[in-house]
Amino acid sequence: VLADHDHRIADLTLAEAGRHQIRLAEREMPGLMSLREEYAGANPLAGARIAGSLHMTVQTAVLIETLVDLGADVRWASCNIFSTQDEAAAAVVVGDGTPDAPTGVPVFAWKGETLDEYWWCADQIFRFPAIGDTPAGANLILDDGGDATMYLLEGAAAEAAGGVADDAEDDPDELKAFRARLRTSLAEEPGRFTQQAPLMRGVSEETTTGVNRLYRLAEEGRLPFPAINVNDAVTKSKFDNRYGIRHSLPDGINRATDVLIGGKIALVIGYGDVGKGAAEAMRGQGARVIVSEIDPICALQAAMDGYQVVTTTQGVETADFVITTTGNSAVLSVEQLQVLKPGAIVGNVGHFDDEIDLAGLAKIPGVTKVEIKPQVHEWTLPAAEGTGRESTSIIVLAEGRLLNLGNATGHPSFVMSASFTNQVMAQIELHTGVAEYTNDVHRLPKALDEKVARLHLPALGAQLMELTKEQAEYIGVDVAGPYKPDHYRY
Ligand code: NAI
Repeated sequence: VLADHDHRIADLTLAEAGRHQIRLAEREMPGLMSLREEYAGANPLAGARIAGSLHMTVQTAVLIETLVDLGADVRWASCNIFSTQDEAAAAVVVGDGTPDAPTGVPVFAWKGETLDEYWWCADQIFRFPAIGDTPAGANLILDDGGDATMYLLEGAAAEAAGGVADDAEDDPDELKAFRARLRTSLAEEPGRFTQQAPLMRGVSEETTTGVNRLYRLAEEGRLPFPAINVNDAVTKSKFDNRYGIRHSLPDGINRATDVLIGGKIALVIGYGDVGKGAAEAMRGQGARVIVSEIDPICALQAAMDGYQVVTTTQGVETADFVITTTGNSAVLSVEQLQVLKPGAIVGNVGHFDDEIDLAGLAKIPGVTKVEIKPQVHEWTLPAAEGTGRESTSIIVLAEGRLLNLGNATGHPSFVMSASFTNQVMAQIELHTGVAEYTNDVHRLPKALDEKVARLHLPALGAQLMELTKEQAEYIGVDVAGPYKPDHYRY
């Protein structure tokens, strides 16, 4: 690690391998590449200092380099301890330079961070140096899951309150690590968060879980800057969450276990956008898929799509695979884990690692955990009464964190191109149109959503029809769109 280029990653010599992958990914990311063309020389993000917290993958490398191409200064961390692709991080840091003299973007991310390291990395992304009249700090956040936003807001709140709250003994390790980092940061540089807070122009948020956190902050009147909900762009959640997971879920299961999916029973917990993609993927591999839901609308959708809808408690009795997709906590409880048959494979693709109650499971006397390989563990546990078994042993993927990123490389480039094109447009909106956005959660205009889709059609050889003037008048839209009212659900 060179003192004059700020970064911390696994290994700079992986840059060449990363660059080859990035080059190939660029071909599959027409949305991002066309934004580079559209804005060539215009630098709409000049002056933007973007603190990015999003899985540091090859696809994210193309996003980062697009932001830089449009004029932004960027610092980056991953939003998950297991999701970094070290070669992508290396290539982004090295940039046009060499491993001995990197010239690229400061990245703070590697595969397999500890929780303490994770929050250290999150802290680093805000550390833009003061240059001339520009004060130290970031002025935009690009977030995935809301951790970077929370770090900034909680830091400012702690500074105002004169300190960080004490830990309770049974607080989760995540929370303890988060508070420890805040304490260190406050002690090292008093006043830092207070100084940083007013610089912030806004945040664009990638995922369902982070968006939920933002709406809650806004309702409580605690959102001090505008937020753009990228997740609920149609070309994000109806594509990335669904078709992305349809690709990357079986990829993760296969790389982790190489166990045949066909003919087995797969329980998918949650039938939202991610659950729909997960169920379709498992069915595509020949599994018999059963679904559990709490929302009657989504449960009815699952039934109409041909899946048996069960309670989770019923589902675990027969399941060979259990996949959680809810963004909710403890949807697979200790008692339900104890019902699973030996060899059952359990994994999560919702944002945080508390969907499967592994923390609760670890507290049960007699439970053991063996590492089969990194991010694949065999847990042996006492079986539930009535199963006829003394004990059972299950395979847990990615320690209950996003398995498609922990055990594989996340969603493929093409679908991430649609998501990230929305991200870049959101950053441009926040940076250039800041006066128009109130301190609330906003969505991008539908015209931009349609633009993202339009940018991706030619690559698939799709031919789009055009409305005639008469037809447009007949259905009450403009020939150039938008074609649907805001309440349309796709
Ligand atoms: P969603 O809100 O569309 O779907 C979640 C579903 O889970 C809802 O239908 C809800 O009714 C259901 N649910 C909630 N509690 C439940 C329970 N106790 N039992 C059964 N069902 C329950 O959200 P979406 O977009 O599908 O996202 C889900 C999670 O996946 C979020 O945490 C999101 O951030 C994450 N995500 C992960 C990705 C990945 O690459 N792994 C990609 C995109 C999103």
